[in-house]
This record gives sequence, C-alpha cells and structure tokens, in this order.
Amino acid sequence: MPNNLLASDCLIVIFGASGDLTKRKLIPALYHLWDTGMAPKNFAVLGIARSKFSDDEFRDAMYEFSKKSYVDESKWREFAKKVHYHAADSTKADDWAGIQARVGSLAEDHGTGRNLLFYLSMAPQFFEPIIQQIGASDLVTEGRMFCSLTDDKPWQRIVIEKPFGADPESAVHLNNVVAGVFDEASTYRIDHYLGKELVQNLMVLRFANSMFEPLWNRQYIDHVQVTASETVGVEGRGSYYDSPNGGAMRDMVQSHLLQVLSVVAMEPPVSMQAEDIRTEKIKVFKALRVPKEEDVPNIAVRGQYGAGSIEGETLEGFRENDGVAPESQTDTYTAMQFNIDTWRWGGVPFYLRSGKAMAKKLTEIVIYFKPTPHCLFREEAKKYKANQIVIGIQPDAGVRIRFEGKVPGLGMKIKDVLMDFNYVEQWKVEPPDGYATLLHDTMRGDQTLFKHRDEIENAWEAVQPVLDYWKENPQDDLPNYNAGTWGPSAADIMMARDGRYWHNP
Ligand code: BG6
Repeated sequence: MPNNLLASDCLIVIFGASGDLTKRKLIPALYHLWDTGMAPKNFAVLGIARSKFSDDEFRDAMYEFSKKSYVDESKWREFAKKVHYHAADSTKADDWAGIQARVGSLAEDHGTGRNLLFYLSMAPQFFEPIIQQIGASDLVTEGRMFCSLTDDKPWQRIVIEKPFGADPESAVHLNNVVAGVFDEASTYRIDHYLGKELVQNLMVLRFANSMFEPLWNRQYIDHVQVTASETVGVEGRGSYYDSPNGGAMRDMVQSHLLQVLSVVAMEPPVSMQAEDIRTEKIKVFKALRVPKEEDVPNIAVRGQYGAGSIEGETLEGFRENDGVAPESQTDTYTAMQFNIDTWRWGGVPFYLRSGKAMAKKLTEIVIYFKPTPHCLFREEAKKYKANQIVIGIQPDAGVRIRFEGKVPGLGMKIKDVLMDFNYVEQWKVEPPDGYATLLHDTMRGDQTLFKHRDEIENAWEAVQPVLDYWKENPQDDLPNYNAGTWGPSAADIMMARDGRYWHNP
C-alpha cells in the first residue's frame, strides 16, 4: 500500500468503451469518486471503441443509463465535461496516430500530465493486439523502468478485466504479452470480488481480532464453503457463455471464488503493504492441490439449468438461449472441492460452488467448525448443528455466528442460535460498489486488491484437470437442474459422500 491515500491526476483511457461495463460500472464508479471528492483534482476519461459517437452522444448514452439510479442532473453536466470519446479500432496500427493525438490534447486540456490509466474492457481476444499497440506507441514512457510508488514520476498503468486466459497456457502467454510493455507493479488485473466490502472486511475480521485466528486452522475447522449463486440466467450473453471462455468454472470459480478462498486461507501478512498481502495470497494459490484425473468425478460437479421458475417468473433453459448450442455441455453451475496442501489446512476441504438460474442471489462464505471433542449433552447430541461463521458478502452483508444455546425452561433442550452483525444496520449505508474502490486504488497505485500473475496462473492449474475431464467426458444428463433450484443433485451427493451438506439459506 503506498503511503499516499490520494489518487493522482491522470487520464483514464477505456478500450471497449461502448460495452456494458463502461456504462454499468466504470462511469458510475468514477462519478461516485468525483462526487465524493475522492477523484484526483485533474482527471479525464477517454472512451475508445469502433462505434461512431461524438463526445456529446457518448455522454448522453452514459447519462441515459445513469439517470435511472444515481446522478443529479446538474452535477452530471459538470462531471460529463471530463468524459470524452474517440472512435477508433485500437487493435489496428493505422488508428493509433489519432488515438495518440487525442490522448495528448486531452492531457493538455485537463492538466493530467503524463499519467495514463489504460483500462481494457472488451472481449479477451482483443487484449493482446491492444497491449501490443500500446507498447508500440510512445505513450508508455516508463515501461519496465517503473518501480517506485512514492516518487512523483509520471506513471502509466494497465487495468485488465477478466477473463484472464482460458487455460494455463493462454494465461501465461497473456501475462508475457503484458510484461513486454508493463512491469508487474504497473499491471492491475482486476477482480471486482476483491473490491467487495465484506471480502475486505474478512481481512479485518481475521487480523484485527484475537478471537478468530486461533481457531482458523485444521484443528478446529471442519470445512469451508463458498457459494456465489445467481438467479439470473445468461441473459443475452449466450454466445459468450457457451464459448471456450465461458461456463461457471471459468467465469466465477477460477476467478472470483478462488480469490475469496485465498483471503480466507492466507497466512497473516507481515504488514498491510500490497506486496506482503500478495505474497501470502500467492502461497495459497501455489498450495492448491492440482487434482488427478481419476479424482475429478468425486470432487467436481458440472450442472446446466433447464427451464424453471424463479421468484414467480418462468425462465427458459440454457440451451434455448441464442448463441447456445442445442447439445451444449457448458457448465452453468460448478461445484468443486479444493484442498490446500499446507500445515494450516491439511485435511480441510474448501467447497466452492457457483451457478446461474438458482434459487437465490447470494454470495457467502461459511466456516464449519468441528464437533466438540466430547459430548456432555448426550441425549441431545444428534441434534447439534456444527458451529458456523457465516460471512455474508451479498445481499445480506454481515457476519453471523451460529452456536448452540439452551432453550428456556426446565430440562436441557439445546438449539442453535445466531449472533448477527448486519452491515447495513450497523453502518447505516449499503456496501459501496467494488469498482469505485478498485478504480481509486489504481489511481493511487495500490495493488493490494489486484491479482498477481502467479495467482492467476496457479488458479488455472488447479481447475484445468476438471475442465479437461469434462471436455473428454460429455454428460448425457444435461440439463440436470431446473432453474430456480439449488443446483444438481450430484452436488448434494458429492457433499453427502463426505458426510456434509450445503448451506442453502
Ligand atoms: C462477472 C461474471 O464477473 O460476475 C458474471 O462474468 C456474473 O457472469 C458476475 O454475473 C457476478 O457479479 P456479482 O457482483 O453480481 O456477484
């Protein structure tokens, strides 16, 4: 973490600016930072995409989306003066003279100096050619020379969205392409789950308290579950989702959920400096067991949703979506058991699952504790529930501790009770959107919440045997869960085999 909380002046260049992410997440996040005084004094945004828009048309398109929720019109007019657009094909060398001229004139007009934040927000096949074009331009003055976070030399940084590769080889290749232009300290591989308030709170829970950490190991913890369930289907993203980059394993588990796992499992860092935190996270990724082919059927479940009903609305099956093959084998649901081969976590399984079209929108971590070593309340023993710490990330943000208590009255009846820290009740605000936090961090040079190349490469290694197995062994039972349910029964069977069950609130 740099010693500076202030974001530095910069021009933010968004490639793929006509896409959904810009209007849904990036512009709202920048507006929020500007509105709350957290944006740098001098900054501007240059959106680049192939569609032809003028600055005003682009601003209007952003406003149309934003006005539904969060902006005040007069403030927006003020903010919008910082937002610009340039139509170009940034994968083509011919268009770069124009891009560079526009970057130069905006930097001059807005007084942003030579600090540039490149943001890649488009389909992954364009990452490599654009990075190469950035490298060929003379915009990156520091490149691999850049290393200091404390001096005031101009900087150029790159933010790269997921998917970061589609398998171990393509991830290494992309990392090498990036490293040819930007050093690791200037590379921000973004994962919006790390920007979620309750994921950050997890570090505070673990490392600012003395009561949890002594229990946080194989001696007391039986297993850990991380769930990210969504009620939506693939919603117009059928062709992407059914492509080699798609599916729940790649879209959610390899990326977001393994990041969450790493924060649950990391050792206490020696300081809160980004480098120290990332060092500990990398160790977790390196210790992830790479499954053997013969283990896959026991530790991983692929699901795909068929038609069903969610919250009273009918949803068509995955295969009925445009762009999805009628015999598609894509996982819209994945459950996988991970093992972390370290002293702390030996023998403690981490079960991760994520699915579309499920019963509830929910992201949570559940820590299940082992039973007491001796049972004093024998007649009640069968009814004991495992002690749990439930960390609700969304929508019920908070931390809940479940333990056994005595039911009032004569005799000794025992029932589980809940101690509940509810984020919204406590702080009287909704948790902020992760993108504002993460964008702010990029502008102040804090990589704590961004992924190091080693994390990504090791995460791919851990899931690839499952993806290979699935490719070689098509399932004839797909679709195997109805929209609006908690996923395929095979996932319950996987848990039951280990004497466990999913936490389905
Ligand atoms: C994205 C995935 O990264 O995360 C989407 O590509 C998914 O498929 C989304 O819907 C979920 O994010 P959140 O913040 O709503 O849990």
